[in-house]
This record gives sequence, C-alpha cells and structure tokens, in this order.
Amino acid sequence: MRFALVLVLSPLLAQQAVIPPPLDYTVFRDEVQPIFLKKRPGHARCVECHEHGVPPMEPLAPGAATWTEAQSRKNFDMWKQFGKQLLVHPLAAKAGGDHFHAGGKHWASKDDPEWRILSQWVSGTRGALEPRVLQSNSAGDSIDVINPATNKVVGVIEGIEVPHGVVISPDGTRVYVTNESKRTLDIVDAASLKVTKQVPLSGRPNNLAVSKDGKTVYVAIVQAPGAVDVIDPVAGINLKSIPLKGGIHNVYVTPDGKFAAAGSIPGKLLNIIDTVTNTVAWTLPTDAGVRPMAFVTNPDGSTRQIIIQLSDYHGIAAIDFVTHREVKRVPLPDPTGTPKETQGIQGSPSHGLAITNDGKILWATSKWYGYVAAFSLPDLKLVRVVPVGSHPEWLTIPPDGKNLYVSCAGDDATVVVDNKTMQVVAKIPVGAVPKRNASGMLRTN
Ligand code: HEC
Repeated sequence: MRFALVLVLSPLLAQQAVIPPPLDYTVFRDEVQPIFLKKRPGHARCVECHEHGVPPMEPLAPGAATWTEAQSRKNFDMWKQFGKQLLVHPLAAKAGGDHFHAGGKHWASKDDPEWRILSQWVSGTRGALEPRVLQSNSAGDSIDVINPATNKVVGVIEGIEVPHGVVISPDGTRVYVTNESKRTLDIVDAASLKVTKQVPLSGRPNNLAVSKDGKTVYVAIVQAPGAVDVIDPVAGINLKSIPLKGGIHNVYVTPDGKFAAAGSIPGKLLNIIDTVTNTVAWTLPTDAGVRPMAFVTNPDGSTRQIIIQLSDYHGIAAIDFVTHREVKRVPLPDPTGTPKETQGIQGSPSHGLAITNDGKILWATSKWYGYVAAFSLPDLKLVRVVPVGSHPEWLTIPPDGKNLYVSCAGDDATVVVDNKTMQVVAKIPVGAVPKRNASGMLRTN
C-alpha cells in the first residue's frame, strides 16, 4: 500500500520540481507570432526564411497578413520545442546570444521589448496575474498601482483628470476608471497601464462596479436626474441608462452577482437592480443620503445584509436583504481626547467600508477622528479602533486577505493595517487627495 502511494506521488513531485509551466498558446498566437511576421529595419522577416526552413513555420496564404487558427496551432506545436534556441539564436552574442544564426541577430539586448515577450512566453510568465491595489487620487490626474507584497507603488495610470472610481476586470486584463472631467468610462490596459478607450456616459459619473462575468460595467451617474449606465466594456458601448430618482453616488454588484445596489444621496434611496434584466427590483427609502456599502453573505453566497453608511451619520446601518428593512444602526465611538476634524467632511463623517475575506470583520472609517474601526460579524460588536491618519476614506482588501488598505485623503497616503494584529504596518505616499481604491489580480506584463 505504502509502496503504491510512493509510486503515484513521486512523478508528481518530480514534475513540480523540474518541469516549467506549460507554454501558453494564446500568448504565442497573439504576441509571439506577430514578432515572426514583423519587418525590422535591416533584417529579413523570420517568416520569409522559416516558411521553408528549420524550424518550419506554416506558409502564409497568398495575401494573408497572418496565420489561420489551425496554422497557428501547428506553429505552436513546432515552436514550443525551440524555446531555448529562440532566446539565443536571434540575440546578439554580446547580449548573451549564441555566436551565429543564418537569419541574423534581430535583438541587440535582453531589454528589447520583443525579446522580453519571447522570454516571458518561454518561462511561462507572460500574462501572469499578480495582486495589486489601485489607489485613485481624487484631486489628481493619476491612479497609483501598489504591489501589496512590498507595499510600494510599482506603476501609475496617468492622464485621467479627476478619476473617481476604479475597478479591475475579473480576468485581470483591464482597469475601468470613471473620468469625471470628460464624463467617460476609461478602459485601461492592465499590462501597459495606458487608456485604450473612453466610453461616453449619460452624465457626470461617480463610482462604478463590474459584473462577476466581466461582461457588464455599472456606472453611477451623479448628475441630475440620476441614473446607472450599463456598459459593455469589451465592445466599449454604453448599452443602456437606467433612470433612477436622484443622482447616484455609488454602485456595487452583490457578491453573488445577481444584483447591483445603487445609492442616491439627494434621493435618499437605496435601489436594487436585477442584473439579468437590468431593471429595478426594489427600492428602500432612507432618512439620509446613501453612501458606501458592504455586503454580508449567507453560506451559499447570497446576500444576507447590506451595510450602509449615511449622510451626516457617524456610524453604520444594516439592511436585511430579504425583508428590505433596516435591522440595526450602530454608531462609531467618539474617543475621548481625540480632536474632531471639522474641515471638508462633505456630509459624511464615516465614509468607507470593507469586510475581511473570511467574512468575520467589518471595517468602517471615521473621518471625524482619523481611525478605522473593526466590528465583528454578524453581531456588529466593536472590536478595535485603529488610528490611521487624516481623512480616512475608502477601504480595500486584496485577494490574499492579509491587509486592509486605507486611503488617507488628508495625508496623500494609503495606510496599510494588518487584519490579524490590527496594527498599522505601512504608510505609502500616493497622489493628491486619495479616495476610492480597489484591489484584485492584475495582468502585469
Ligand atoms: C535569412 C533567413 C532567416 C531569417 C530572416 C531568420 N532565420 Fe532563423 N534560421 C535560419 C536558418 C537557415 C537556420 C538554421 C541555421 C542556423 O541555425 O543558423 C535558422 C535557425 C533558427 C533557429 C534555431 C533552430 C534550431 O534548430 O536550433 C531559431 C530558433 C530561429 N532560426 C529563429 C528565428 C527567428 C525568431 C527569426 C526572426 C526574429 C529568424 N529565425 C529569422 C534562417 C533565418
């Protein structure tokens, strides 16, 4: 019995240790093949020789700019066997290439972007997803990209004046940003961090959310009369504007993907939209403007409660998702001896919520006193108050669940709090007046 187990396990272990990740076909088709087809000054194209050479490439059909799907598959099956030679044969000898290739040396350095694509394809790292925190700078024209493994800014999305909300597409290939100055939804390529498309909105936007399947982006339109725009982000089309009463500040998709929740400040309304029909399923009138939200789920993932923050209220309220009733209101503490911030509260003394990935803790910010407060779930008992800095605004927790990221708008910094020890572990300088943030797995190359 023991002998049999060893037999079964050892090839698996050996495989993990020595065999590199399988090469990716899509990366080959979409990024490696174009390098074979490209004309570089002073060099004949790879395809010109290798169409009838070794290793062979499929012959292009007369007049065709690229290979068919079936040909690409054949090229892939052939060229995946030549990974190592591909990196040294067309690379200059003094950059680490071998000394002769009958097709010449196409790249002078390993820093050449084309060579780097080949190298990342061969090592299986091209298209890798890595966790990232995105911090939008509400009074700036940029979004900072933070690596949560190092808590350093590793990239910047530039050229979006007054970026409001920011989200990552579920497949990690894009970032969506609401652009207040241009009234557009800006689509950003995750690998290059460049804006590739701007989709016109029906009015000035605030926050946004993306559906679980990545096919729909919901944008809160704050400009009167108020709406939620429904965008197809892949086609880059504004499909529909759902009219709602009062400008919409924030929109969220529930964790099960079945509903979008849209809060209105002037309308004092919580609107729940069915994401299949994109029509309003129910609304709840409130006694104050509806600000940020967080979702408490049942074991099956369906929504149990919506935690909301309200205008001019220093605390949180819990709405039962089935009965549509407010079931609890919990004030945030007023710590003795802590001076109360009065400037620039913008009608929301508490504005920012997050639930830890294990579903056990709800974090809420206090702009009055510059802290984040931890509440246990589902009973909403205060566990800890953690001072973080000036004007803590928005909260996000990356996929590994380790830390909480707090935008401190008054400090131009994102403050990192360990979810376990509930202590500040880092303070990351970012742009002007950081507010909305988001996190997820992002395609980094
Ligand atoms: C002028 C014709 C020509 C061009 C252009 C050319 N090659 Fe080659 N390539 C050859 C010939 C001939 C050989 C076989 C002789 C040798 O290894 O140098 C070869 C060999 C190779 C090999 C080694 C295969 C082995 O058996 O080890 C690789 C890999 C390769 N080429 C890749 C490329 C790539 C990538 C490009 C474009 C960047 C390219 N070649 C452009 C003619 C060419």
